[in-house]
Amino acid sequence: MKVVIAYLSYSGNTNETAELIAEILINEDVEVDLHRIGIDLPINPEQYDYVFLGTFTWERGSTPDEVKDFVLEIGYKPCNMIVFGTGDTQFGGDNLFCLAAKKLAKFYNSPYPVLTIEQSPRGSQEKKVREWLEGVLHDAKCVTK
Ligand SMILES: Cc1cc2nc3c(=O)[nH]c(=O)nc-3n(C[C@H](O)[C@H](O)[C@H](O)COP(=O)(O)O)c2cc1C
Repeated sequence: MKVVIAYLSYSGNTNETAELIAEILINEDVEVDLHRIGIDLPINPEQYDYVFLGTFTWERGSTPDEVKDFVLEIGYKPCNMIVFGTGDTQFGGDNLFCLAAKKLAKFYNSPYPVLTIEQSPRGSQEKKVREWLEGVLHDAKCVTK
């Protein structure tokens, strides 16, 4: 299995989440490409079994512009998108928490639950990441290759 983890991170939380997901997948013998949105060359989703897409949430629940550009760059709605996000409930409580990730999953009609992480995934939330990933991998709903 080959996946790409595309993510945007300013202060490191989404980067850490992407790296943790990569670590777990690599241990399961999955081939993983990491894609830094806005920095690396465009990807072709068709080359992957899954595209993991990670974003933080910006002011008042908005999606960062770089992630919007990534969505436009992809140009269609692949059915193999799995979305994760980091956020902070101090910025507007549950209603705005990780809203960018939730909106993206809706946009892509992703059949997978969205992983939402409060700030850094390290420590107590690592278990959440592992359990989410286990569920996602056992529940393959769309394979493009
Ligand atoms: C100006 C600003 C606005 C933010 N607004 C939200 C928000 O509406 N909802 C949310 O869940 N998190 C919000 N956050 C928190 C970030 O999404 C959170 O810290 C995230 O983990 C940052 O990701 P990064 O470390 O990968 O850059 C905001 C942070 C900043 C600095």
